[in-house]
Amino acid sequence: MRVLIIGGTGIISTAISCSLLERGDELVLYNRGKTEQLFQAGAGQITGDRRNFGQFESQMSGEKPFDCVIDMVCYHPDEARSLIRAFKGRVGQLIFCSTVEVYTKPAVRFPIREEDGRESICEYGQNKAICEDLLMEAHWEDYFPVTIFRPAYTYGEGGDLIYVFGKATYLQRVLRGQPLIVPGDGNCLWAACHRDDVGQAFVNAVGNQKAFGRTYNVTGMPWMTWDAYHQGVAEAMEVPCPPIVHIPTDLLVKAALSHIWPRPDVYDFPYVFDSSAAAADLDFRCTIPWVEGARRTIDWVRERGRIESSVDDSIQDRLIRAWECMGDEMVHQFQS
Ligand SMILES: NC(=O)c1ccc[n+]([C@@H]2O[C@H](COP(=O)([O-])OP(=O)(O)OC[C@H]3O[C@@H](n4cnc5c(N)ncnc54)[C@H](OP(=O)(O)O)[C@@H]3O)[C@@H](O)[C@H]2O)c1
Repeated sequence: MRVLIIGGTGIISTAISCSLLERGDELVLYNRGKTEQLFQAGAGQITGDRRNFGQFESQMSGEKPFDCVIDMVCYHPDEARSLIRAFKGRVGQLIFCSTVEVYTKPAVRFPIREEDGRESICEYGQNKAICEDLLMEAHWEDYFPVTIFRPAYTYGEGGDLIYVFGKATYLQRVLRGQPLIVPGDGNCLWAACHRDDVGQAFVNAVGNQKAFGRTYNVTGMPWMTWDAYHQGVAEAMEVPCPPIVHIPTDLLVKAALSHIWPRPDVYDFPYVFDSSAAAADLDFRCTIPWVEGARRTIDWVRERGRIESSVDDSIQDRLIRAWECMGDEMVHQFQS
């Protein structure tokens, strides 16, 4: 099949590119040529910025038609509209990478299924939901068949591991045994999936008529607590897990909102999704356990010397001290 990926060198799309090339598809990538390509040559390249709508659409109109277009970097309704203009009536299938951030928080039931509410509390999720609607309308208007994927946290070689105070110094904090802050009580559930597993579901949807007009969660299993997430990272680094300090999320928001990455709600609501539709139609499987996937990602970061020093990482230490003083003061006031 002749497949275009808009993106193609990012975290998830690297896995899609590699798997399509392995399968023997003719692959073309559209990107700005800024992100390092971590796989061997074999894909065609069109260079451009998809946000430059006029140029993007004219570049696409000059291309021989594609059997499938996978859009990995459509975040805004204007980009979805441009995508529709570019491919209306001239593509075999359009695959859109959305996100679980489209879902309502708090959810009314768990695990969250594809048909559940999409009253997202963040702009990112709201825009993705509008893009989904625009593309599904295009599907029903017969402009092209559409398949939508909703990944949750997807990690892998070439990226970092998520941590509430950013990613840069996280790994060194674990190595040095410096305390880690976990918002809430550490028992909120989180879903992490290695990008090779998510990417394989995308590839299994290419040209697959079962996936036409369908939306799929493609999210990590088994669910794990945030404490288990950090314990898994320590295990992957072969060091004892540093002390974990639990601080209520609303207090962290009051004290240090601007330092929280990416948003507080990520740590405050259970990430428990049902990916059984993708398992049934696309053979989606979580084959890479958390510790192994974390080890691969950390090795990649280590090999490139990209672990940043946490020696001057004072914000978290100040927050922990303030929290512990407050706790002592509370006990003192209550008991006196
Ligand atoms: N990773 C997660 O945890 C997660 C979870 C849920 C959903 N998602 C979704 O996954 C998608 C991201 O996928 P990914 O991991 O493969 O991508 P990524 O890591 O964000 O990489 C972006 C890719 O798109 C290209 N690109 C970026 N801006 C561009 C532009 N303006 N014009 C043309 N190309 C552009 C980049 O290459 P150049 O820099 O060279 O242009 C690169 O190939 C997004 O739709 C996101 O919402 C991710």
